[in-house]
Amino acid sequence: MSDLPARPMTARPSSALRGRIRVPGDKSISHRALMLGALAIGETRISGLLEAADVLSTAAAMRAFGASVERRGEGLWSVSGLGTGGLLEPEAPLDFGNAGTGARLTMGMAAAHPFASTFFGDASLCRRPMGRVLDPLREMGAEVIARSGDRMPLSLRGADPMAPIAYRVPVPSAQVKSAVLLAGLNIAGTTTVIEPVPTRDHTEKMLAGFGAEIDVARGEDGETVIRLKGLPELTPQEVEVPADPSSAAFLIVAGLIVPESDITVEGVLLNERRTGLLEVLAEMGADISIENERETGGERLGDIRARASRLKAVEVPPERAPAMIDEYPVLAVAASFAEGVTLMYGLEELRVKESDRLAAVAAGLTANGVACKEGAASLAVTGGRVPGGGTVVTHMDHRIAMSFLVMGLAAEKPVTVDDAAMIATSFPGFAELLAGLGGTIGGAELTAGDTK
Ligand code: S3P
Repeated sequence: MSDLPARPMTARPSSALRGRIRVPGDKSISHRALMLGALAIGETRISGLLEAADVLSTAAAMRAFGASVERRGEGLWSVSGLGTGGLLEPEAPLDFGNAGTGARLTMGMAAAHPFASTFFGDASLCRRPMGRVLDPLREMGAEVIARSGDRMPLSLRGADPMAPIAYRVPVPSAQVKSAVLLAGLNIAGTTTVIEPVPTRDHTEKMLAGFGAEIDVARGEDGETVIRLKGLPELTPQEVEVPADPSSAAFLIVAGLIVPESDITVEGVLLNERRTGLLEVLAEMGADISIENERETGGERLGDIRARASRLKAVEVPPERAPAMIDEYPVLAVAASFAEGVTLMYGLEELRVKESDRLAAVAAGLTANGVACKEGAASLAVTGGRVPGGGTVVTHMDHRIAMSFLVMGLAAEKPVTVDDAAMIATSFPGFAELLAGLGGTIGGAELTAGDTK
């Protein structure tokens, strides 16, 4: 996918947000449902799939490997897979657009097949480090040709046979863990992943659901040890994708900071490796309640109600980062409205997301008159008054765009983002949903003097 043309957008001070809404399906689970469907023999039916650019790139990649992937209705998809080890050599390079998860997990799948595949993406994705995934794949026997620094575009070729490895993940990354496990599926023997810090566990849970032999144990020092037996026969599943907590986060924070708001986001995934933001907001004094809690497909879901609240600053410890890694930009926005100085630690991974999120957040806060201090892996935000009136550079990052649009709904003056086009990678309909709740948000022309 070539880079999309920039589309500025502005959010203005709004009156109370009210209503019940549903946000699109979880991105992590959507990618994995398509991938595991492509590796199972028979028809996997998916409902609630996130129909956003990132996931559609994965759908296209699964087709390129020979799986049949069809849309049957809104969010309803059918995948007929080829069986473990059954992927075919793609005829053309695979374009992952902006999607790090899609690209990295698919590298794992492809690496354990004895054919060549080539990966590329947009300017943001081609800047992101791929060595973290390529290193273990090389250890398993795959051959890699990549741009210097292990960046995309790159090509992989699997060996025959590949070797199962025991891999201690050096950075807290569910993507790295998942790439190793997906490669291990097509390798005889047991592939082991050791996670010093627990990260989202969707791959493990879904692999078990599709019938793989996978064992997850707590080792010494609190490490998680995951053992996967290779060459399983995966059985197709019915996958119901819950609403994405990382998308719900924007609406929840909007509900907290826009005066007199009362909103409910329905059917949100409450997997405890994803709910770090809710814990932090509760500590900040947010009026958030979970209603109608239930379980579907082994995951806890609930309706999250958020009402306008007076927030107070807190200290967010580094251990919480993996459970809210995508939520720091919007937490920084919440912190701007909180009384006092909010301190966040353990943010090194934010530097290698769709943008350098730590730098992008700090620049966005500063542009809107919020005092902050950016450390190498920390951020301090002095909250209380949010003058707004700034233009935020989003650096092709959907979450930077959405976070600062949320800020604009409650700041003293409007907030503009230079490019809202990337929101379509994870949350199509974001602006319309907010507008439906009463938010004042829409297209904007950059005023003279603003730069991109
Ligand atoms: C994801 C893992 C996280 C997260 C990303 C989705 C996943 O990335 O930031 O949005 O689905 O596995 P890392 O594994 O790089 O931390």
